[in-house]
Amino acid sequence: MQLFDFKFNKGTVWLVGAGPGDPGLLTLLAYESIKKADVIFYDALLNDAILSLAKPSTELVFVGKRGKKKSINQLEINKLLINEAKKNKRVLRLKGGDPFIFGRGGEEALSLKLSKIPYKIVPGATAGIAGLAYAGIPATHRDFNTSITFISAYGAGGEKPETVDWNSFSKTSQLIVIYMGLERINWVCSELIKRGRDINENIAIISNATKQNQKILISTLKKCSKDLDKNEIDSPALLVIGKNVLLSPILNWYRSDKSINFLKESEKKYEQHNFI
Ligand SMILES: C[S@@+](CC[C@H](N)C(=O)[O-])C[C@H]1O[C@@H](n2cnc3c(N)ncnc32)[C@H](O)[C@@H]1O
Repeated sequence: MQLFDFKFNKGTVWLVGAGPGDPGLLTLLAYESIKKADVIFYDALLNDAILSLAKPSTELVFVGKRGKKKSINQLEINKLLINEAKKNKRVLRLKGGDPFIFGRGGEEALSLKLSKIPYKIVPGATAGIAGLAYAGIPATHRDFNTSITFISAYGAGGEKPETVDWNSFSKTSQLIVIYMGLERINWVCSELIKRGRDINENIAIISNATKQNQKILISTLKKCSKDLDKNEIDSPALLVIGKNVLLSPILNWYRSDKSINFLKESEKKYEQHNFI
């Protein structure tokens, strides 16, 4: 039985998730595709350690956003993928995390399908799961949650998304993981508090998760904005809200020196739980 299909045919496009940063989190398929691609279209979350796995002859094309500079739009990216595949190349579209989690992979796959270009989708470790693991936050923990909610703080055009039902999430979501939320943290916290979440509820801000410069700031919904002002926390970052955050100072195994914990009282909270 053949376990892996590594055959990267010419004239095809692979949409591949590279995980949140640590090259060790690449899947075998992602690793093989990087080594075999003729051209790689990559976004801003991709780091050099991953790109350096490509052959010297592979063309590396940046198609991400850099700061406020004008960037290539989604339709242009779709066209590039189609045109390069028509030139009979092995085309790799390499994305941070998972291509289908807030990664616009669905749009790219649809354009390939409609253009009759053969494609393959390779899932990657999404930041909202792998990033939590590297911060010592179990995404589920039996004592705390039986569900997880992923929210994007950005709508399709960069606006605050109207489709986020803060009312029901505030009432029912035990663990909320917010992507692209750092710049909108005040909005996020005020929506949650307005709808009944405790002002002292824990929030973890995990920046550059799984990378060498990973940092974790632990605070509360009420205080996090002030705590952020006092500390340098860069994008990309995740906001994590829920009891699971309490475990981070205990289980944070990766870059514990880079954790900034403001929850002195959290130590007392662990004692209330019988973990052993
Ligand atoms: C456009 S979304 C892409 C998500 C990606 N497809 C995934 O599955 O992780 C970008 C957002 O993902 C989150 N993100 C991605 N990589 C991250 C990392 N290494 N550390 C923290 N957050 C990350 C941040 O919230 C960032 O603003």
